[in-house]
Amino acid sequence: MKSNKHNKNLQNSTSAVIWDAPTRVFHWLLVTSYVIAWLSFDDNRFLFFHVFGGYVFFGLLIFRFVWGLIGTHYARFHTFAYDWTSVWDYLKALLTGRAARHIGHNPIGGWAIFLMLFLGLLVCVAGLLTFGGEEGHGPLRGMVSFKIGMYSREIHEILAWTMLAVTAVHVAGVVVESLIHKDNLVWAMVTGRKDDTAGLTSVRGHHFLGLFIATAVFVSGAVYFRGYLTETADNLYMPYKGPELPDSALWREECGSCHFAFHPILLPERSWRAIFEGQHEHFGDDLDLDDDTYEELLAFHIQNAAESKLNEPANKVLLFEDPASVPLRVTETKYWQHKHKDINEAYWKSKQVKEKGNCTACHLDAKQGTFEDSDMRLPDISPAEKK
Ligand code: HEC
Ligand code: HEC
Repeated sequence: MKSNKHNKNLQNSTSAVIWDAPTRVFHWLLVTSYVIAWLSFDDNRFLFFHVFGGYVFFGLLIFRFVWGLIGTHYARFHTFAYDWTSVWDYLKALLTGRAARHIGHNPIGGWAIFLMLFLGLLVCVAGLLTFGGEEGHGPLRGMVSFKIGMYSREIHEILAWTMLAVTAVHVAGVVVESLIHKDNLVWAMVTGRKDDTAGLTSVRGHHFLGLFIATAVFVSGAVYFRGYLTETADNLYMPYKGPELPDSALWREECGSCHFAFHPILLPERSWRAIFEGQHEHFGDDLDLDDDTYEELLAFHIQNAAESKLNEPANKVLLFEDPASVPLRVTETKYWQHKHKDINEAYWKSKQVKEKGNCTACHLDAKQGTFEDSDMRLPDISPAEKK
């Protein structure tokens, strides 16, 4: 589509609604979910929020693809699917400061939008694959291997950064165009209205649909986060339940009497063998296990060691560890150290934690051995302790 009857420089001071309500609601909720996803991506504790941002983002994109086909004039894809000549001409005009004002999207802005929508969709798909494969959650759980999950995570990140770059171009474009044409495009996306539209008729508002989308997102949020609203101090909410790991009463009794019973998934086989062989000099204690107990406990630890790959930590303990090293402490493994390196020293010294091996102080599901993201809470320590 080369020429467009709305593209001329227009003088009349009339105004018209250009962006219908669903398009505006879509736009600002998309921005919000995008920001939530970016703010929460780097910290496991916030995975639950990250995923919520992702679901909302995904849902909104799907709506937008439909609305691009059946929505009102300026929201439809064909009104801003410009050919390359128009893009080129617009770029030249822009560089010489003579870019024509467009009521809807201009040729470059239009393509930035297609690119963002498309990248956004790919980001979501890669995110779902990561979530299913690496974390074992979401609609794709059980359908994707851990390995594919790991690759997807890389792709998810590359796509997300690429989309962020395109988003930066989009925002820059909005600022430049707003300045050149003294046309506040941001405000237009809030009210839907543009001035100086030379008698163009307003599009239909579709206010009910806009309200419906906003309500649907709000209600899904309340349902999604309801666990946090109803938790109590001694029954904190755990958003994710990991796979049920093999358990043993004997293990809990024998290995849980002096300290927290570390689930076998936390160390590789070779470590457990070494720990059992050294039972008479167990960190200064003598475990003095009788033969039957020794055999049964050793078998339980070997069977369910990291090599069992029963959950994400098992996979990662193995992946991070140099095959030649035999860590005798969970807290000595490369993976554990990697995951805990950024935690403020004050937490380790606090009276709630005291020792690094006190996993239950921060991980609500430590006893189960699942160590799910978002099932960890740093204890409340006093501000004095924080210093
Ligand atoms: C008699 C008390 C006692 C019993 C019983 C005991 N341990 Fe320990 N264990 C210790 C002590 C003491 C430490 C060192 C704690 C420290 O320095 O942080 C330790 C540390 C450990 C660690 C390293 C924790 C870390 O910092 O990562 C592992 C793993 C471990 N024990 C496994 C076992 C297993 C498996 C059993 C059961 C067969 C067991 N323990 C039974 C006393 C005991
Ligand atoms: C002071 C609080 C604290 C203690 C104590 C603690 N952790 Fe953590 N742990 C965290 C935090 C916070 C994270 C998330 C780090 C991040 O965002 O990458 C984490 C992450 C992890 C993860 C990664 C979870 C995942 O799915 O990616 C594992 C596994 C883990 N911890 C195991 C342990 C074990 C085992 C112990 C006891 C030996 C322990 N932690 C003790 C705070 C703690």
